[in-house]
Amino acid sequence: MSSVQLDAPAKINLHLEVLGLRPDGFHELAMVMQTIDLTDQLTFERLPEGELRLSLESSAGPLPLDGDNLILRAAEALRRDAGRPELGAAIHLRKRIPIGAGLAGGSSDAAAALLGLSRLWNLSPSTAVLERLAAAIGSDVPFCLQGGTQLCFGRGERLEPLPDLPPMGVLLLKDPQVSVSTPWAYRLCREQLGGGYGSGEQSFEPRRGALRQRVRGSVPWLSGDAPLALCNDLQRVVAPAVPSVRSGLERLATAPGLRALAMSGSGPTLFGLFDDPEAARRAADGLAATTTTAGLQTWVSSFRGASSPIAAAAP
Ligand code: C5P
Repeated sequence: MSSVQLDAPAKINLHLEVLGLRPDGFHELAMVMQTIDLTDQLTFERLPEGELRLSLESSAGPLPLDGDNLILRAAEALRRDAGRPELGAAIHLRKRIPIGAGLAGGSSDAAAALLGLSRLWNLSPSTAVLERLAAAIGSDVPFCLQGGTQLCFGRGERLEPLPDLPPMGVLLLKDPQVSVSTPWAYRLCREQLGGGYGSGEQSFEPRRGALRQRVRGSVPWLSGDAPLALCNDLQRVVAPAVPSVRSGLERLATAPGLRALAMSGSGPTLFGLFDDPEAARRAADGLAATTTTAGLQTWVSSFRGASSPIAAAAP
């Protein structure tokens, strides 16, 4: 194949519970992640003699294009695993997902690179190999390979798929000048909430079971008329430390038609859930004056199902 084009969608966390610390220093998590319809786009073309080249067209700010970039790390890992160092590619990234935002944009780009380059280079890595490579690149990359709605345990890489949810509308809110470092957010969490951390499987497994029961219960999760309380333990420590998260939460809470709101991942992006994308659009319009004054940017999106996690982009 001479050229491949893929969309790489963002995610939000419908639930993020920090259970404790693991022996490897990562946090043990219980999460529900949801793919949304805000995408980057990646194009892959073959290059000779092992050259890997990455170019960027970004409406989301600058990004390192060197070996630290998760796309290049994915490309290196894939060809190393296949024992094919001579494989080369020119990769063009059209970046729309905000960077350092808690939306897994970089992780989704890496997942798209694993899939797109496998196709471009005619490699057929097994699902197990792709999952192993993904988990080595970052905690959210395995979810981004699968997409849809998933329970995510471990450091985020142990996935249990959930049925697709109705396509709720999502209003994202973020100060374009502010990003949050994930290690910083987890460090803060450990400092402030570490006293309440559980330790070991005897404490983790009952909490996983409680989350499974809640989201797989007979009363459909995220449906009904009652307001929904979403949990993000990182929001408890990031919101007090980041003024734009606090002011964004206050503004979002006033949106008409809002069903629930929370911070996504380690932030600082906030999201509000609405019955459908049209309701999210109306809420964005209604909040426009106050969000503009506060320097906050908004995006309207919707839930995306598992059938199209990383879909071939339209030509
Ligand atoms: O895996 P990823 O590269 O996304 O993780 C970035 C950092 O976030 C880790 O180095 C760690 O400090 C923190 N982290 C954590 N527990 C997790 C995921 C991430 O402590 N489950």
